[in-house]
Amino acid sequence: MTLRHLLDIESLKPAQLIELLDTAETLRELSERGSRKLPLLRGKTVVNLFFEASTRTRTTFELAASRLSADVVNLDVASSSASKGESLLDTMATLEAMHCDLFVVRHQASGAARFFAEHAAPHVSILNAGDGRNSHPTQALLDMLTIRQHKHDFSELKVLIVGDVLHSRVARSDFQALNLLRTGEVRVCGPMTLMPPNLTDFGISYFPKLSDAISDVDVVIMLRLQRERMKGAFLPSEREYFHYYGLTAELLKRAKPDCIVMHPGPMNRGVEIASDVADGPQSVIRAQVSNGLAVRMAVMAKVLGAQVPQVSSRQAAL
Ligand code: CP
Repeated sequence: MTLRHLLDIESLKPAQLIELLDTAETLRELSERGSRKLPLLRGKTVVNLFFEASTRTRTTFELAASRLSADVVNLDVASSSASKGESLLDTMATLEAMHCDLFVVRHQASGAARFFAEHAAPHVSILNAGDGRNSHPTQALLDMLTIRQHKHDFSELKVLIVGDVLHSRVARSDFQALNLLRTGEVRVCGPMTLMPPNLTDFGISYFPKLSDAISDVDVVIMLRLQRERMKGAFLPSEREYFHYYGLTAELLKRAKPDCIVMHPGPMNRGVEIASDVADGPQSVIRAQVSNGLAVRMAVMAKVLGAQVPQVSSRQAAL
């Protein structure tokens, strides 16, 4: 499989998605065996271009590049010449002239990563680290890897996504990935004001009440309220939001006993999730972060053409 850019999940074929998950698993296993530094990207240069805030994605992309022995540049956008009005394309062309190979782009505008990809020099790859409400493909990959580590067979699963689906690039990318992996049932729950109009495109069922939505599910993915993307009043108050849509230990008892709880982060504790659930035994939120490192190593290795040994295919289990 060749892959030059990773801009979204919908452009992937199921076999490509599974190959990326398998590669991430291999790299995770190699890292855990003590091979902290692999020479797969020696001589390559990776640039992190984050026009929007990030803790997890930016740090794991930086660590992933470093673990693969690439040179890494973290452009501080606020103090770069972008702040003096230099355009996105001029910024990219300037960095290309320094023989950079890979740009990791986060931007508040939907479509920004594709815009970079359409104008990139032939030797350059683009990875989307989150663009507006549109797509967050590596988050979806790390979410699928985390689910697969705990549950194995997607066709048997009931997965529930709760909260601000309308503004969430994570939800959009997760829907696409769950669809590619032929997940048994995908449900959503949240205020109608925070639901997109096209849920049926993905065969998703909408539940207005969390107590009904969570009944008998295997996986719950809680979403952050994205205040920075809301223009106008979508909610009466955060206190009421937690009352109706916050995940509590009491509500979690209605899910399957081995249900896992996920959140892409950053979390608003007491708004979308209670602290005892976020830190409780069913939470896999920290595992998601660890898997982010493995997934980002896998994606970088793939687009830059590094040869990573494959573990035995898990396709049969999917
Ligand atoms: N999940 C996620 O994208 O987190 P950051 O915004 O911290 O990168």
